[in-house]
Amino acid sequence: MTIKHLKILHQHNADINQTFEKDGHDVVQGLTGTLKTLSPKYFYDDHGSELFEQICELPEYYPTRTEAWILNQYADEIAAITGSCELVELGSGSSTKTHYLLNAYQKVANSLITSIPDAFSYIPIDVSGGILKTTVLHLQEKYPDLTIEGLIGTYDEALLYLGKNHSRSRMIFFLGSSIGNFNAVESNEFLNKVSHALTQGDYFLLGIDLQKPKDILEAAYNDSQEVTAAFNLNMLAHLNWRFQGNFDLNLFKHQAIYNEIDHQIEMYLHAQADHQASLDILDLKVQFQSGESILTEISRKFDLEKMQVQLRSQGLETIKIWTDPQQWFGLVLCQVL
Ligand code: AVI
Repeated sequence: MTIKHLKILHQHNADINQTFEKDGHDVVQGLTGTLKTLSPKYFYDDHGSELFEQICELPEYYPTRTEAWILNQYADEIAAITGSCELVELGSGSSTKTHYLLNAYQKVANSLITSIPDAFSYIPIDVSGGILKTTVLHLQEKYPDLTIEGLIGTYDEALLYLGKNHSRSRMIFFLGSSIGNFNAVESNEFLNKVSHALTQGDYFLLGIDLQKPKDILEAAYNDSQEVTAAFNLNMLAHLNWRFQGNFDLNLFKHQAIYNEIDHQIEMYLHAQADHQASLDILDLKVQFQSGESILTEISRKFDLEKMQVQLRSQGLETIKIWTDPQQWFGLVLCQVL
């Protein structure tokens, strides 16, 4: 089967090399500051994406399972509230959990008395063209009635490309608590862009991981099979191939701690010895002292009340919230009023 409906958004942004240069720039900045940091986007090369899929299956990593349970339970109710609409998924990945929503929206489209063109339509968005291509092919086979247009690009590129121009009502959804990987400023900027891609009456569905005891959270990010450790260390391997580097993965150790003041998991790579690493393409040499850390990710854990206030400040009014029986994860449906 051939793919007719995949669009690469980087091409709209002039030169792909610009993106690479910009990426390199943030690595230099992150590794030369007093507290060394790296952007979590460097987790996701092909191997990193595979490791993330494995993390989602781990017994300790409850978010994926719990969100899937909520979707399975309530997708029909969500579809009944919004009615038939254009479904836009940010960071769709392999769209595993999306099936619950697609099944529900297919039922809604089938129940329409008069047929609406594109009544059952889905726009998955992901930076990884490989994963998106496989997903689109799979979905075309599973849902022959589905109008599908995959967009390869960043959230920013996709939201800008989509703009406000849509003839039918739209629901953007962002699952997996990926919003937790943005800091407070970034998450506001992100919600603002989401809001700008919606018009009055449109919907936004957001999956968020909720605050819970430290031991449950730390176990989820320090799993016993050490898949999360491999995922964290793979960031250095990614930098090595991308920027001709010589990071020695054996000289770093993974640790995730829950910061109870800021309500966030912080993932670190701790240097195990004094040493130097270089990234030739970036003309960068970095000194590490034994015990020194690189912060590679934050994963914020949310409070439902505060999230509703933040959403409202961006013009997104919460109309319904669903959670699991333990209240570990929340699915928030908002509307532009
Ligand atoms: C993608 N994101 C929502 C995951 C999280 O839980 O913050 C990434 C992750 N990092 C370690 N394990 C999972």
